[in-house]
Amino acid sequence: VHRDTQHLLHRREQLLGTAYSLFYQEPLHLVRGEGVWLYDAGGARYLDMYNNVAHVGHCHPHVVEAICRQAAMLNTHTRYLHENVVDYAERLTAKLPDTLDTAMFCCTGSEANELALRIARSATRARGVIVTDFAYHGNSQATWEISPEDCAPEHRPDYVVTVPSPDCYRGLYRGDDAGKLYAAHVQNAIDTLSARGIQPAAFIIDTIASSGGVVLPPAGYLSTAAALVRQAGGLFIADEVQPGFGRTGSNFWGFAADAVVPDIVTMGKPMGNGHPVAGVVTRADLAATLGAEGGYFNTFGGNPVSCAAALAVLDVIEAEALQQNALQVGQYLVAGLRGLAERHECIGDIRGNGLFIALELVTDREQRVPATALASATVNALRERGVLTGSIGPDNNVLKLRPPLVLSTADADYMLDILDRSLEACTDM
Ligand SMILES: Cc1ncc(COP(=O)(O)O)c(C=O)c1O
Repeated sequence: VHRDTQHLLHRREQLLGTAYSLFYQEPLHLVRGEGVWLYDAGGARYLDMYNNVAHVGHCHPHVVEAICRQAAMLNTHTRYLHENVVDYAERLTAKLPDTLDTAMFCCTGSEANELALRIARSATRARGVIVTDFAYHGNSQATWEISPEDCAPEHRPDYVVTVPSPDCYRGLYRGDDAGKLYAAHVQNAIDTLSARGIQPAAFIIDTIASSGGVVLPPAGYLSTAAALVRQAGGLFIADEVQPGFGRTGSNFWGFAADAVVPDIVTMGKPMGNGHPVAGVVTRADLAATLGAEGGYFNTFGGNPVSCAAALAVLDVIEAEALQQNALQVGQYLVAGLRGLAERHECIGDIRGNGLFIALELVTDREQRVPATALASATVNALRERGVLTGSIGPDNNVLKLRPPLVLSTADADYMLDILDRSLEACTDM
């Protein structure tokens, strides 16, 4: 380990406390990024197969320039008129179904989900929230409470009821009717809330259930679940913090894989390519209920610099056809992974949309037993060989491949070769 890195690690442990964590057995000290590449303090380079925030590539010059230009001109807040926030709201809502015509801005995905909860509660006059059972929706008190990945059952308030994550590989249901069968649990959750004297305000789902193990909801799941919660007076919130902005290739938003229009869409991470921009898009009638309750203000949310960054990200997605690239390179990568699965018994499942791909490792393909230790060893072996990824899911056995959308087929080949060698090294151990 680089001497400065050791020193930094020590200082960090002293100063940041124990709640923070670091990736990898040997933590990385990154100093520079460009496109899909990251560089450490010792000059080694890594292919970034993990970071979705750097959506259009690390330090994309168009985004950097837009931020610098606006920062040199003016940065205030949304209580003054400025074109950027209005221009961005116009371009963003144009990417969504017509009824979703009102945008509100904040700085993090947690804030976006917090705001969505407030809107849902104010519009429905109800407080119940239905979530999938290993979801993560944020770090604030309210979003922590609806994040079963972090908030253990003993801390979970009575207004939160979980439904099984619609996992068709290792979950409860697998066949063609899995969507309907999983959605029926939303009705059970409504009944559970009702038995507690609570009405549902919302069903919220990460539309590619990342924390659940990069779970792709089966056909009909989102639309049926949304219909059930609406029947009970609640709203459907699509958390697009990870899947949004073209990552899934075939669609700009994750929810669009199913025939459903959410009542509220939340977004963040890739929106500013690393600059903290997040937001909520909803219907005007729903946003109005919050307006009537004292309104909304966020000191930093929607400021001219953040909106310049977000506008520049949309420019690059369009100019470089990155949604299309996600689709093509995603398909190429999945085909390559299927090739590797012929030689590596430990690859149990490969699933994904565009450049949001899961590689699920198992110790037994028949029984689908999670290979937790192997996944962790593989993540570290990949890092040693210059490819960054991470593992996720309730059993931490799913490698999450979620690179910047500028990944090329040559980068995919590089990754596949190193993955092949890493799996070989780890299964030989
Ligand atoms: C699906 C989802 N929603 C919300 C959040 C919270 O976003 P932030 O960390 O920007 O507050 C995350 C962050 O990981 C997320 O993955």
